[in-house]
Amino acid sequence: MKPRRLPLDRPWLAVPLVVAVMIAMAFLVVNFKLVTTKAGLFCGTTSAIERNVIPIQLHAVLHYATTRDIPQQSTAEIRVSFDVLFSLYPCNFLVFGLGHDSLMWASFNPNGFTMFLEEDPNWIKTVLTKAPNIRVYPVGYKTHLYDAKNLLAHYKAEPNCLPPKLHLQGNTKCRLVLSDLPNEVYDKEWDVIMIDGPKGYLPDLPGRMAAIYTAAVMARMRTRPGVTHVILHDVNRKVERVYAQRFLCRKYLVKAVGRLWHFVIPPASKDQDLTPNTFFC
Ligand SMILES: C[S@@+](CC[C@H](N)C(=O)[O-])C[C@H]1O[C@@H](n2cnc3c(N)ncnc32)[C@H](O)[C@@H]1O
Repeated sequence: MKPRRLPLDRPWLAVPLVVAVMIAMAFLVVNFKLVTTKAGLFCGTTSAIERNVIPIQLHAVLHYATTRDIPQQSTAEIRVSFDVLFSLYPCNFLVFGLGHDSLMWASFNPNGFTMFLEEDPNWIKTVLTKAPNIRVYPVGYKTHLYDAKNLLAHYKAEPNCLPPKLHLQGNTKCRLVLSDLPNEVYDKEWDVIMIDGPKGYLPDLPGRMAAIYTAAVMARMRTRPGVTHVILHDVNRKVERVYAQRFLCRKYLVKAVGRLWHFVIPPASKDQDLTPNTFFC
């Protein structure tokens, strides 16, 4: 039987193969950074420095695969924020409230800036032992849930709660403003704000009034192009519903899933919206 000849015996046949390999190599070199930073598909392709920084997604997989502490939001509710973050990452993501879900939220914003605000110092310590690489700041709330109705009257009467005097940092006159957060919170423009804290299930607890109001002001005062997504949990409760309708606005509500509402809020238009009556809705 006549032996089969290898292509190497016919050099011209190897040309397309070599060209194909070169194109593939060029493609890999061009996409190396993208591949290693976005998906990390290939073993041994990252530098020693990159390998020392474990991506938060790997921490998250390890954590959620080995814990019984699971997030309180339902799968369908989580999916709403997942879809928003997936369409926007890397983005600026501010979360009111720390929980068993925090590492998950931070990992849904690859290469973005995710910050958590939490009232309970002991809870911060507990969560940080399990998720040490998330960014958390303590926040003190001066409100009480039992005062929710009075605070609605207060904001209408207090000039510092509405344009043109309204501002956030250092605004101690408007009781709904969170006025002493870290500078970073005021300096950034937030693309996504999730409100799942502070606690608001008993009269003496802070309630979410100031978080909702402050998030609404941030969204309306946005100066960068684009909109602000505000995602509010626990809308089965009256205060969350009333404050959401008053400050986040029914007309900006785009999705309601379970106990979660998703608002897409445009910046206030300089000409029309900066009057007290039209600033929020
Ligand atoms: C409704 S929880 C948010 C829970 C979060 N979505 C989760 O899935 O874990 C809001 C607040 O409850 C408090 N909190 C939540 N879980 C806690 C726990 N296991 N122990 C103490 N405080 C907790 C924190 O102050 C937090 O800001």
